[in-house]
Amino acid sequence: MAIIQIYPSILAADFSCLCTEIRRVEKAGVDGIHLDVMDAHFVPNLTFGPVVVRHIRKCTDLPFWAHLMMDDPGPYLEPFQKSGVQGIFVHLEINSEPRAMCRQIHSLGLKAGLAINPETPLGDFPLWIDSFERVLVMTVHPGFGGQAFMTEPLEKIRRLKSAVDTTGAELQIEVDGGIDEHTAPSVVEAGAEILVAGSAIFGAEDLFSAVQNIRKAGQNVLVKSKG
Ligand code: DX5
Ligand code: ZN
Repeated sequence: MAIIQIYPSILAADFSCLCTEIRRVEKAGVDGIHLDVMDAHFVPNLTFGPVVVRHIRKCTDLPFWAHLMMDDPGPYLEPFQKSGVQGIFVHLEINSEPRAMCRQIHSLGLKAGLAINPETPLGDFPLWIDSFERVLVMTVHPGFGGQAFMTEPLEKIRRLKSAVDTTGAELQIEVDGGIDEHTAPSVVEAGAEILVAGSAIFGAEDLFSAVQNIRKAGQNVLVKSKG
């Protein structure tokens, strides 16, 4: 049985003390850190780049995955690799062939992921399903934390899961946007095994319980489907 992994998005953390925030989620047993990088073009918001990542890299040994919400991520892949991330998501909507981006990320020794906006169809996914280590199904419109979970992308998760099961591809399905203990069961039921959560974790009074509850809510679905 898969173990549900939790990746908190530091977008919802207190940026005046990122190290403390990262250590708090580490203590709560998360599996890695999700870094939301926004370029003010692909999305209207602007966040941080490799310089900040290089500094927070010193705070933990947890894996870092950068979610590049950028029109033109190509020139930034190497700076992010140098900043110490383990994996990079680029978006399917940008003007680049997914497999070419994937090769570039792999050539830097990193794991590669493909992020897909809620309204974007899967398209010719059988062509790339075998290349990437992860797919990031967006369940909000990217750009801001704290938005309401959208149910429409659940169908894409189901299709991806069924393709993964049939082809034996090693692709892990991750979901990003509006995830909390109430929405986690539906995405796990659809086939996700890695959950990103920002406000539900950093906005919680009891961060430790928030992490446990999201993981438990997802894991219970897998336990029930086994039994
Ligand atoms: C949205 C980001 C998400 C977001 C998740 O653009 O990609 O990672 O921060 O935050 P919540 O969990 O608050 O929706
Ligand atoms: Zn994200």
